[in-house]
Amino acid sequence: MKEKKVMVTGGAGFIGYHLCNKLSNLTDDLTIYDNLSSGKMENVQDNPKAKFVKGDILDVKKLCSQEKADLIYHLAAQVVVPYSMENPLEDFETNAKGTLCVLEKARKDDAKLVFASSAAVYGNPAQLPTSEDYGFHPFSCYGLSKVVGEEYCQMYREQYGLDIVVTRFANVYGLRCHGVIHDFLDKLAKNPNKLEIIGTGLQSRDFVHVSDVVDALVNAGSFESANGQTYNIGFGKTTKIIDLAKMMLKILNLQDKTVVTTTNVSWQGDINTIWFVNAKAKKELKWNPKVSLEDSIKEVIAARNLSK
Ligand SMILES: NC(=O)c1ccc[n+]([C@@H]2O[C@H](COP(=O)([O-])OP(=O)(O)OC[C@H]3O[C@@H](n4cnc5c(N)ncnc54)[C@H](O)[C@@H]3O)[C@@H](O)[C@H]2O)c1
Repeated sequence: MKEKKVMVTGGAGFIGYHLCNKLSNLTDDLTIYDNLSSGKMENVQDNPKAKFVKGDILDVKKLCSQEKADLIYHLAAQVVVPYSMENPLEDFETNAKGTLCVLEKARKDDAKLVFASSAAVYGNPAQLPTSEDYGFHPFSCYGLSKVVGEEYCQMYREQYGLDIVVTRFANVYGLRCHGVIHDFLDKLAKNPNKLEIIGTGLQSRDFVHVSDVVDALVNAGSFESANGQTYNIGFGKTTKIIDLAKMMLKILNLQDKTVVTTTNVSWQGDINTIWFVNAKAKKELKWNPKVSLEDSIKEVIAARNLSK
């Protein structure tokens, strides 16, 4: 990795920040390419060794005119499922056409590409836990635009002989994240007496810590044997959202004080259960997710208290 020129699209986002943090120690030539639509300048500034280009992946001319890359991590995306249902065209532009633009950059440079896909490509899987060969059954526009991205990756592998690895993430969480754990903490900070869960609370997620995801991405980028492969990147356990809420209240010592309610109605495109078989990534990427959900929640709570 040391000699490689590495580009991270979406490097100003949550996972991108943590990935660039790690890559900064592994390569001397790291570029973040991000339009800052949901990413933060703070994430860029906290990775001072990386060069920053403010650019849109859809601006293929600008993207392709950047310095030649050897390895591209493609993380830039529209990531909000309800938003994709309200704005399918915009979601398609960024996630499907945007991925095609990044593939063109990889083709021009003959670079290896690691693509960030999602559990959303499986939709509501009949097979639980779900393995990579389950097939595409997207349930939201976001899931479908990720499928299209994956299909283009496959085409570029087969027709142009590019080295491409597809990584499908479950629910990634950790510091600087903007997911359900942070949402609950925000709600509790406003009113510790009540915690409202959107949906039934019975929807269930495979939570995987961002440091574990970064380890998998580094190995996916480094291992030649990973080229052409698709990997589930999840912890391999599933936790109901209601149980996550209870776990958090216990850690915060609020279990006797806070009343938990549910809206019962979820958002369009919400998935019932995400639960990954991660055996392939464990074996072939020599990867072992280490961080437990409980430990990480404690980490997030401690960081928020410190920053108050
Ligand atoms: N966080 C998760 O739980 C999760 C789960 C499954 C898959 N993923 C995938 O992982 C990747 C990173 O997700 P994240 O959670 O860090 O999201 P994020 O929103 O924090 O990061 C996405 C980044 O992409 C940038 N971006 C968006 N559109 C762009 C465009 N047109 N041009 C250039 N940059 C653009 C944003 O500014 C942002 O910095 C995404 O591809 C996402 O679909 C994330």
